[in-house]
Amino acid sequence: MYVCICNGVTDSQIRQAAANGCREVSELTMRTGCGATCGSCLDMASGLMDDYHAARRAPVIDLPLIASAA
Ligand code: FES
Repeated sequence: MYVCICNGVTDSQIRQAAANGCREVSELTMRTGCGATCGSCLDMASGLMDDYHAARRAPVIDLPLIASAA
């Protein structure tokens, strides 16, 4: 799906940029051109990157404390 019509940037390209370490919209714009013209795509692009990173964040697991053997 095209997210940035002005520059022909798709949701797949945005997820790929996120997978390659892109975390800020300004960095996404530099890498892909997304948002560089009218900017109306920036909220959706930011949401896609946030969703990507949130889905890959490691869950917090509470482990029981184990008494020291020393
Ligand atoms: S739709 Fe992305 S800059 Fe216009």
